Amino acid sequence: MNGVANLSLNADSRVGTIAFIDLKAQQRRIRQAVEKRLQAVLDHGRYIAGPEIEELEEKLAERTGAAAAVSCASGTAALIIPLLAEGLDTGDAVFIPAFTYNATANAVLLTGATPVFVDIDPATFNMDADDLERRIGEVRAEGKLRPRAVIPVDLFGSPADYTRFETIAEREDLFLLSDGAQSFGGRLNGRWVGDLAPATATSFFPGKAFGAYGDAGAVFAHDKAMVDHWASIRWHGTDNARKDSIRVGFNGRMDTFQAAVLLEKLEIFDDELAARHEIADVYSRRLSNIGRPQTHITGAQSGYGYYSLCVKNRDAVVSKVSAMGVPTAIYYAKPLHKMDAFAAFAPEGGLAQTERTADEIFALPMHPYLTPAQVDYICDAVEAAVS
Ligand SMILES: Cc1ncc(COP(=O)(O)O)c(C=O)c1O
Repeated sequence: MNGVANLSLNADSRVGTIAFIDLKAQQRRIRQAVEKRLQAVLDHGRYIAGPEIEELEEKLAERTGAAAAVSCASGTAALIIPLLAEGLDTGDAVFIPAFTYNATANAVLLTGATPVFVDIDPATFNMDADDLERRIGEVRAEGKLRPRAVIPVDLFGSPADYTRFETIAEREDLFLLSDGAQSFGGRLNGRWVGDLAPATATSFFPGKAFGAYGDAGAVFAHDKAMVDHWASIRWHGTDNARKDSIRVGFNGRMDTFQAAVLLEKLEIFDDELAARHEIADVYSRRLSNIGRPQTHITGAQSGYGYYSLCVKNRDAVVSKVSAMGVPTAIYYAKPLHKMDAFAAFAPEGGLAQTERTADEIFALPMHPYLTPAQVDYICDAVEAAVS
C-alpha cells in the first residue's frame, strides 16, 4: 500500500496526466497540415469520391504491398463487402474467434451466414488453428452447415498465423478473410497486414493506430479483380458508370474528408509505429515476469493497436492502477458467445481459453505520445498493483 501512495505522489511531478489513447497530442503535431488538406476538399467540393479517395487507395496498396485497396465507410463495411462478394448463403458456416469485437460476428450474420466460434491460442490471443480444424471437422460431420469462410482476427495488432490458415483454407476450400481492423502496421515474415491474406479488412476508427477523424475502413486484396467487385458493392452494386445495378450492394463509401485526414496521417505513421514498438518493448521487458503479455508468432511484429496482458487478479490490479492514475481498458471482458446477440451460436462446452483470457486480460495505455517517464510509471504501477 505504501508503494501505491508513493507512486501517486510521483505521478504529479514526473508524469502528468496519462491518456489511454492521445489523439489530441497527435492532432497538435499535424493540425496545420490537416487543415490544409481539409481546405483543399472544401475548395474542390467533391465530398464523395473526391481525388483524395483514389490517392489514398493507391497509397494504401503501395504501403501494404497489396495488389489493390478499396476504401470504405468503416471496418464493419470492410468485412461485409468481401463476404457479400463471396455470395454467402444461409446454410454457410463462417469460422471466427469469439474473442474479438462484435463487428466480426455481426458482419457474418448480416450476410445471412452462420458464425461458428473457434477458441484462441492462450499465448497469442488469436484464433487457434488446431481448434479451427477440429470445428471444421465437426461442422462437416454434423452436415447441417457448409464450411465456407474463415476470419482470423489480428487481435490488438498481432498478425494471426496466416501460413497455417492459408493451408487450412486451401485444403478445406474456404474463403480466407483477415480481420485486420486492429493491425494496420503489423507485419508477418516481412509482409505487411493487407498482404497477408487474399482479402484483408481494416478499420480507420479514430482510436485505431491509423485512424481517421470519423468512421472509415478499407479492404485489401491479392487479386485486383476482387477489388473491382468490392468497389461496386460499396457503391450500391452499380456498374462502372454507376447507373445500372448489376448486383446487390449498399452505401459503403468513405467520404473525402476522411481520406484527406488519412493521407496526412500516413506521413507520420512510420514514426508513430516506431514509437509504439519502443513503448511495447519496455512494457514487455518490465512486465513479462509479473503478467502474461500477448506473445506474437515467430516472424510477426504487431501494429500495437493495443497492448494487453493477463494477470490472475485482474479486477483488483485494474482498480489499483487506476487509483494510481493509469487508465486501462478491458478487451474483452465478455466473449461473443456469451453475449445475447450471439449466444445461439455458443459451442457446447464453451471455449475454455477464450473464457479464461476474458477473465484475466486488460490493456495498458498505448499511443505514440507516451513519454519514457510515463511508460516507466505505468510499469511501476502495474508492478506495485500485482505484488
Ligand atoms: C476486430 C475488429 N473488427 C471489426 C471492427 C469494426 O470496425 P469499425 O468500428 O470501423 O466498423 C473493429 C472495431 O473496433 C474491430 O476491433
